[in-house]
Amino acid sequence: NEGSLWGGRFADGPAAAMAALSKSTQFDWVLAPYDIQASKAHARVLNKAGLLVDDDLTAMLAGLDRLAADVADGTFAPAESDEDVHGALERGLIERVGTELGGRLRAGRSRNDQVATLFRMWLRDAMRRVGSGVLDVVEALTAQAAAHPDVVMPGKTHLQAAQPVLLAHHLLAHAQPLLRDVDRLADADRRTAVSPYGSGALAGSSLGLDPAAIAADLGFAAAAENSIDATSSRDFAAEALFVFTMIAIDLSRLSEEIIIWSTPEFGYITLADAWSTGSSIMPQKKNPDVAELTRGKTGRLIGDLTGLLATLKAQPLAYNRDLQEDKEPVFDAVAQLELLLPAITGLVATLEFHADRMAELAPAGFTLATDIAEWLVRQGVPFRVAHEVAGACVREAESRGVGLDELDDDVLAAINPALTPAVRDVLTVRGSIESRDALGGTSPTQVRRQLDVIGAALPAL
Ligand code: ARG
Repeated sequence: NEGSLWGGRFADGPAAAMAALSKSTQFDWVLAPYDIQASKAHARVLNKAGLLVDDDLTAMLAGLDRLAADVADGTFAPAESDEDVHGALERGLIERVGTELGGRLRAGRSRNDQVATLFRMWLRDAMRRVGSGVLDVVEALTAQAAAHPDVVMPGKTHLQAAQPVLLAHHLLAHAQPLLRDVDRLADADRRTAVSPYGSGALAGSSLGLDPAAIAADLGFAAAAENSIDATSSRDFAAEALFVFTMIAIDLSRLSEEIIIWSTPEFGYITLADAWSTGSSIMPQKKNPDVAELTRGKTGRLIGDLTGLLATLKAQPLAYNRDLQEDKEPVFDAVAQLELLLPAITGLVATLEFHADRMAELAPAGFTLATDIAEWLVRQGVPFRVAHEVAGACVREAESRGVGLDELDDDVLAAINPALTPAVRDVLTVRGSIESRDALGGTSPTQVRRQLDVIGAALPAL
């Protein structure tokens, strides 16, 4: 069992199938730079505690730097016999500084507090990368909104024509949840920024090491209050993975609309060549693959999240080896988002909108009926009556095969005397949109304000 971290009480090495099951270097190697950074912090704390003399500290730090460089350029990689990233790196350190010095580093720490710390460090960086990718999508959406301030479209509920809205308002309705996701990442980081280092296997350290010093050295806001909790809890990972999954879901909702809008039946948009694909058999095809892969991969992230939650369920305190299963779902979710985010950004930034088509459909399906009812309310008619009257207008227009704005004055008056010709002011898409001018509404003034608020917030995010 030469080279393993725990050979002392074993007469035999692990069976081949045991080692194969146990092995995690194929995925946890991404933690190597963090492991080495934390080892340097640990060496300094050992030195402060009087457990590593100054010359040894200097040699240890130099050895760890050499190891980091060799990891970075691939000179040092995990061997077949290495169980995990921690074991592999201890081997690498010993190869560089000798058994005597290399064997001193592990004092007062366990792979249990190590892995929990390194995973948090990796995750904090990943959340920052993902957050910045999400903000790129938000910027593409706001740029399209700002570039199309006057374009109107049919707003829908139940995928049925509902009320006309500004395209910009609709696009910003996709930006808003993504901004909340970025805020969720920042909030999750507050809980992730707590260092388990110094917790040891579960009970803490007896060697006079200073967890707060390591925490500060590694950029954490604080050291954990409870060593058992710190080595066994992964709610920080589940929380981040939920936010990653929510980001995918929010992108999937946008993708679904892009897919529908690009059909000839809708005809709202044309996708740029660079962000669509063709068919190997049907020459006329231009397919929205970016949006479909986003929708598809969202299912995969939901699987990552539910898998992790199932792994955490019913584990007794403290560390159990089940926890080795915590990393792959999170790594996978981040890898998928890092593929999706730049592609969705490019897709959105290059969408070509067909304003005429959207304007033509905006009033279709009697989407101005609510405007008649609300106009009547402003004339003092109770809403119950107004709703009935507007409904009667729709019935009349439908039976005559015309739009609401095409009903003659006498027809309107016959439906209800309150329906004077002045109602025509709201029987245009423009009039309807401009009338919805309260905070959060679709009027051009409100949408302009919304764009300003987002624009002012973006630089600080
Ligand atoms: N590789 C393990 C993990 O990813 C850490 C090692 C802890 N192993 C142990 N037997 N205590 O969680």
